[in-house]
Amino acid sequence: MTVRIADIAGFDGKEVTIQGWAANVRSSGKIAFLQLRDGSAGLLQAVASQDALGEADFVVAKSVTIESSVVVTGMVKAEPRSPGGFELQATNIELIQKAEEYPIGKKEHGPEFLHDNRHLWIRTPKQAAILRVRDTVIWALREFFRNEGFILTDTPILTPTSCEGTTELFETDYFGQKAYLSQSGQLYLEALALALGKVYDFGPTFRAEKSKTRRHLTEFWMLDAEMTFTDLEQSMALQEKMIMHVVQTVLKERRADLHLLERDIAALEKVQMPFVRMTYDEALAKLKDLGSDIKWGTDLGNDDETILTKAFDRPIFVTRYPAEIKAFYMKPDPKNPKVALCADLLAPEGIGEIIGGSQRIDDYDFLVQRLEEHKLNRKDFEWYLDLRKYGSVPHSGFGIGLERTVGWMCGLTHVREAIPFPRLINRLTP
Ligand code: 4AD
Ligand code: MG
Repeated sequence: MTVRIADIAGFDGKEVTIQGWAANVRSSGKIAFLQLRDGSAGLLQAVASQDALGEADFVVAKSVTIESSVVVTGMVKAEPRSPGGFELQATNIELIQKAEEYPIGKKEHGPEFLHDNRHLWIRTPKQAAILRVRDTVIWALREFFRNEGFILTDTPILTPTSCEGTTELFETDYFGQKAYLSQSGQLYLEALALALGKVYDFGPTFRAEKSKTRRHLTEFWMLDAEMTFTDLEQSMALQEKMIMHVVQTVLKERRADLHLLERDIAALEKVQMPFVRMTYDEALAKLKDLGSDIKWGTDLGNDDETILTKAFDRPIFVTRYPAEIKAFYMKPDPKNPKVALCADLLAPEGIGEIIGGSQRIDDYDFLVQRLEEHKLNRKDFEWYLDLRKYGSVPHSGFGIGLERTVGWMCGLTHVREAIPFPRLINRLTP
C-alpha cells in the first residue's frame, strides 16, 4: 500500500510503499541508509540490507544519489532514535531517475547561493516545513473568517490608483493608460463591505520597496478584512481572536514541523489573550525607557519595533499613531484629531508589525478634504467617495501580512523564506 510519510505512524509493523526522493544516502558493506522525503513531513530512514533486498536490488540501492527519485517498499518499524519515530526496512527498491550531482547539501551555503537555487532549496526539510506551516496559516485564516460569517471576495490586482501612498507603486502600461499593481485590496473591500457586511480578500499585493530589510518583500500576500458598523475596538477584538486561532492551529497541526525548524515552541504557547494594548504615545515613552531616541511624529522604525516587542511575550497593539504619518482614509480620533483611530499589531520576539488597520473616515466632506491634503486626484476616487454618499456607516478593517505571520510562527529571521519564490529589490529569479 502506498502511504505518505506523514501517515507512517498508522502502519507500524505493516508493509508500505513510499514514493519520494533520497534526501541523503550512505552505505557501508552490505547495508545502505536512504533518508527518504516525500514532502508530507520530515525524513524517513529506509534501511536497505543486501540480505533483505537480494543482490540485484541492493546494487540499485547503493547507486541511489542525493535527490534521485525512488519508490521504496518495506516494513515499518518503530525506532525511537529516528526523528519521526519510525524507520522502513526495505524489501524492494525502484530507481525512477538517478539524479545528477546535487548542488545543495554538500557544504554550508550562503543565502545568495541558496536563493539562486530556490527551485531546489525548497526540497530541504526546513524549507519544506516552512511551506507546510504557510499552508496551515492560510487555512486557519480562511477557517476563522468562515466561522465568523465573513464572505470571501476578491479585489483587483490591476488598479488605476494607489491605496497605501504613491511612493511604492509598481506601474505598468494598461493599453496606453497607467495602471498600478495593488498594494492592498482595502478600498475595493470597503465597497464590498457595504454590499455584503463582513468581507475579506486574500491575495498577492505589491510594493516597490526600495529598502533591503528582513521584513519587506516586493510581492507578498495579504488578507484584508473589512466590517461595517464596527469601530476600532471591535476590529482589534476580532484580530486578537484571529491571531489566537492561527497560533493554536499551528501548534496543533504543525508541531512536528516546528520541532524540525527548531522553533522555540514555548514562546508561541505564551501567546494568550488579552494582547498588550498601548497608544503610540505610551509606546514612545516605553521606547525612550528602552534607549530609543524616537521623536513624536515619526513612524516606529524596524529597530523600535524590535526592542518594543522583545519587552513583552505576547503581541502588542499600538494604537492612535499621528494622523499625519498614516494613510488618508483613517478616521481621526474625535477626542484628539492629531491621532488616527488606527492600530498596528506587533508580533513578539522582535518580529514587529504583522497587521495594520484602522477605522475609516465615513464622512463625505472630510474624506474630500483628506484626499486634497494628500494630493490625491479626487477624480480617481469618485467611486470611493460614493460609498460616503449612499448609506455611509462607521466601518473598520485591517490587513495581515502572510509572510510576516508565517515567519513569526516558524521563528525566521527574514521573511524571504516564508514565501515559495521571494521577490526582493535585488531578486526576480528564479
Ligand atoms: O500596514 P499596511 O500597509 O496596511 C494596509 O495595506 C491596509 N490597507 C490594510 C487594511 O487596512 N486593509 O499593510 C498590512 C500588512 C502589514 O502589517 C505587513 O504585515 C504586511 O501587510 N506588509 C508587508 N509584508 C511583507 N513585505 C512588505 N513590503 C509589506 N508591506 C506590508
Ligand atoms: Mg503598516
